[in-house]
Amino acid sequence: MKQIEIPTIKPALKRLILEALGVGYSSAGKDNIATGNHYQSLTLGDERTAGFRTDRNPFLDQIDFRGKRVLDLGSNLGEISRAARARGAALVDGYEYDPFFVEMAQVLDAYNGTTGVSFFQRDITDPEIYVDHYDLVLAFSVFTYIHPVLERLAGITDEALVVETHKLDGNLDKGYLGPVRRFLPIYKVLGESDWGRALPANERRAVVVFARDEACLARSLGRVSRSSRCSINVQRTTLQRVFFDSAKFPDGEALLDEVRPLEIDLDRVAHEDDLSKAVYSGRTYWQIFLDGRLLGPGNFYYDYIVKFYAPRGHDPGVADALRDPLFALHRIASRFRDLDQFRQAPRKYVPAPVRLFQSGDSTRDRLVLYDAADGEPIRAARVDGWHRLFAARVFGATRIPGEVVESPLP
Ligand SMILES: C[S@@+](CC[C@H](N)C(=O)[O-])C[C@H]1O[C@@H](n2cnc3c(N)ncnc32)[C@H](O)[C@@H]1O
Repeated sequence: MKQIEIPTIKPALKRLILEALGVGYSSAGKDNIATGNHYQSLTLGDERTAGFRTDRNPFLDQIDFRGKRVLDLGSNLGEISRAARARGAALVDGYEYDPFFVEMAQVLDAYNGTTGVSFFQRDITDPEIYVDHYDLVLAFSVFTYIHPVLERLAGITDEALVVETHKLDGNLDKGYLGPVRRFLPIYKVLGESDWGRALPANERRAVVVFARDEACLARSLGRVSRSSRCSINVQRTTLQRVFFDSAKFPDGEALLDEVRPLEIDLDRVAHEDDLSKAVYSGRTYWQIFLDGRLLGPGNFYYDYIVKFYAPRGHDPGVADALRDPLFALHRIASRFRDLDQFRQAPRKYVPAPVRLFQSGDSTRDRLVLYDAADGEPIRAARVDGWHRLFAARVFGATRIPGEVVESPLP
């Protein structure tokens, strides 16, 4: 039988791509910041091209992309987007301002037979474009553009934001960590990357992963061995036992009436063991929390957090971020929002899940909560969600969502 020769357009496509990479072009670049053609080094089937930047594989290899939705900002020729997909991302969207780079990225998808990766011409400085949620947002070498929209970006980032800085000049803290940690306080530096081919090797950048909490960070780095959803019996937990054993109240409103007229001498109680050592497990912390009415300086709770809680490093993950007044306000406002929501609709309000971190070591998993469905105890080494549990209990909610995260503790 005669063999049919299957035609292929790949050689022609490759010639087209190489020709396009050779075009002397610099992007139109919003705000007159131009990016030259062939910025990214590319994978063309089995071959590699040498662009201005080397690949970022050592950093991408540290991130767990499996099954995740990923957004790649300033996606250029799409190399990082395709690398994320090759590492198991369920879907990748790339936003790029320059139409020529978008076209090239699409042709490169076709050449490499990449599926599940789409490119859109978008202006990443425009906060309105951030509507869909993603697990991971990649922002390699685009910080100038995203700096003004960080709050919005953090709002659509469900797990982590990965930032590659521009050239470092003693400005990692002030220029990058500070601004991003206002919205995503937990971070890990993955390492240093190159500034660009043919430029001095001592010019470096850093790649940093930012997340809302440690569970998200651990998940983005593939450090969660397993996690499962549950429902927590709010009224039965042993957390905050000291407060609830001492405060007898028929309902949340009565408790507020009782606590709010209390004059608290913060400078005195801050030095008593109940607040300085027991903190969440004592009584005073929750009295101060309930006394929060006006947000900002002058509010007992705000003053306590900024003056005592943060400097004492009670919550090492966010202690230094809490020194930033804007971050402290955001944090505290979200705790009061939960409190108000439970006050208004204790049986209907569904807060973000309380996270229970299990180390697998019974000597460390000492906090006890109870599963609302079967009454079984759930033990954890750390709980992220003390304020949600407290608010739910005060206003008579019965159960709230939980998530048990098996993760080795640092
Ligand atoms: C320095 S390159 C980084 C490319 C890629 N993220 C990487 O690290 O390999 C910056 C990219 O952002 C794009 N860009 C610049 N301004 C933009 C904007 N306002 N919206 C979207 N993309 C933009 C540029 O065209 C360029 O592709």
